[in-house]
Amino acid sequence: MRAVLLLAALATVEGLQIATPAWPVRSARCSPIACSIVVSDPPAENDRTIVDGPDGAIIVTKVKGEYYAVDATCPHLGLPMKRGKIADGPDGVTLTCNFHNSCWSMADGSCKKWVTGALGFENALAAGVMGSVGGAKSDIKAYDVTVAEDGSLIID
Ligand code: FES
Repeated sequence: MRAVLLLAALATVEGLQIATPAWPVRSARCSPIACSIVVSDPPAENDRTIVDGPDGAIIVTKVKGEYYAVDATCPHLGLPMKRGKIADGPDGVTLTCNFHNSCWSMADGSCKKWVTGALGFENALAAGVMGSVGGAKSDIKAYDVTVAEDGSLIID
């Protein structure tokens, strides 16, 4: 049963990776001290954009007029969260990994939920199997987002 679940999860993972579209990559502005990412066309309300960051893709979104930016690589298995669910709930604005339901605050990157099932379904067996592999529970990096005079976003 466990092998079947694992194979199903891996097949789904591969399917989702193939289905991931090529997101636009924005430019980075660096100095000897720090590196900022400039997003010249910010996402619309409840939309998202993906930019290249120092540690891989960063997901940028706008919810209730506020911008949020966090790393879009899941620390559990290193899988992409470009299509992760963004929600506004009791924990504020959160990003949930599509694979095993881990969830983070997009305000500060703190982990709110860690490996509770698979593919959006809560399941103790899947959580146990998948929780026994990959990285340990951890936060993700959240970035400061500033709106420049020209309307572009500066991500630090
Ligand atoms: S890959 Fe994201 S929670 Fe497992």
